[in-house]
Amino acid sequence: MKIEKRVFSGVQPTGNLHLGNYLGAIVNFVEMQKEAPCLFCVVDMHAITLWQDPDELRASTREVTAAFLAAGIDAKKHIIFNQSRVDGHAYLAWICNCVARVGWLNRMTQFKEKAGKDRENASLGLYAYPSLMAADVLLYRATHVPVGDDQKQHLELARDIAQKFNSDFDEFCERYGYPDGFFPLPEPMISGPATRIMSLRDGTRKMSKSEPSDMSRINLTDNADEIAKKLKKAKTDPEPLPSDVEGLKDRAEADNLVGIYAALAKTDKASVLGEFGGAQFSKFKPALVELAVEKLAPIAAEMKRISEDRAYIEEVLKDGGERANEIASKHLRVVKDIVGFLQS
Ligand code: AMP
Ligand code: TRP
Repeated sequence: MKIEKRVFSGVQPTGNLHLGNYLGAIVNFVEMQKEAPCLFCVVDMHAITLWQDPDELRASTREVTAAFLAAGIDAKKHIIFNQSRVDGHAYLAWICNCVARVGWLNRMTQFKEKAGKDRENASLGLYAYPSLMAADVLLYRATHVPVGDDQKQHLELARDIAQKFNSDFDEFCERYGYPDGFFPLPEPMISGPATRIMSLRDGTRKMSKSEPSDMSRINLTDNADEIAKKLKKAKTDPEPLPSDVEGLKDRAEADNLVGIYAALAKTDKASVLGEFGGAQFSKFKPALVELAVEKLAPIAAEMKRISEDRAYIEEVLKDGGERANEIASKHLRVVKDIVGFLQS
């Protein structure tokens, strides 16, 4: 049976959306819209694996929705919704928990980073986070998942869960009409020159929402002056830019800024170095500022405009949630049959 192409991805509503989220994920969401039906999910259930202030969670959920819309996601043709609206995510996550092995979850590096030294005191939800993520994707039988590089391991786990489910229940998948297994193995799409944007203050650390210094990241809500200030202050080294990509090796900060330029200009690092190879940062940085402001400031302005229309945002999420639920509940009925749950 031919499986229809379907795209799913998620972003957590926790704090500041930044350039890493934009270039690593959201830009690719916008591109994928041309190729297949897409679901873009604000994953509020993932967010609460670390305690969130409920009012801030609501505000961040609206903000991520506004960012999706401002970046150019079409909420009519595709689906934007918040995860908690569709009960199937939690339901299927339970089944994924029963398929996934403890040994698989023990290998997850993000859990180790987030739980830190006091692992005994981390929430069970934080540990099971990748299983919920697998459920998100599998619930829609999604085939393609655009994400940044840091989510690669989680998607491999989602594939392992899908594969084990299909093989544990092969006879039953077949009985209910799916001889090749019910879940397609989701394909991670980690592409472009900016799959891992680094901090502007330290080229060895990922740009992140949780980094205390706001100078380390460009927030999607930053205005032109803030963008310019942060890029001008961004850490560099004393050498001029190299003329080929090889020359960026061991120059984390230079590599990062060239990658950001390439991603914003929708080109690759080699072409950027073709233009700027041999130039000092004093020449490259103003060009980067100009490009970043040109590309990002309109998104910030549009986010602000959309954020003021709370009724519109709520309508997008409600309508998206209803359409997502239609797909989810259809799939979940089959999954329940396959695992042997009685239903009328
Ligand atoms: P999160 O904010 O953790 O929900 O991440 C949302 C999306 O942004 C995921 O696809 C991440 O892989 C991506 N992402 C987060 N930080 C970065 C970064 N520094 N560089 C590239 N992609 C990122
Ligand atoms: N874990 C992802 C992140 O932090 C967010 C996410 C949750 C996701 N569910 C997903 C991404 C499903 C892709 C598909 O970035």
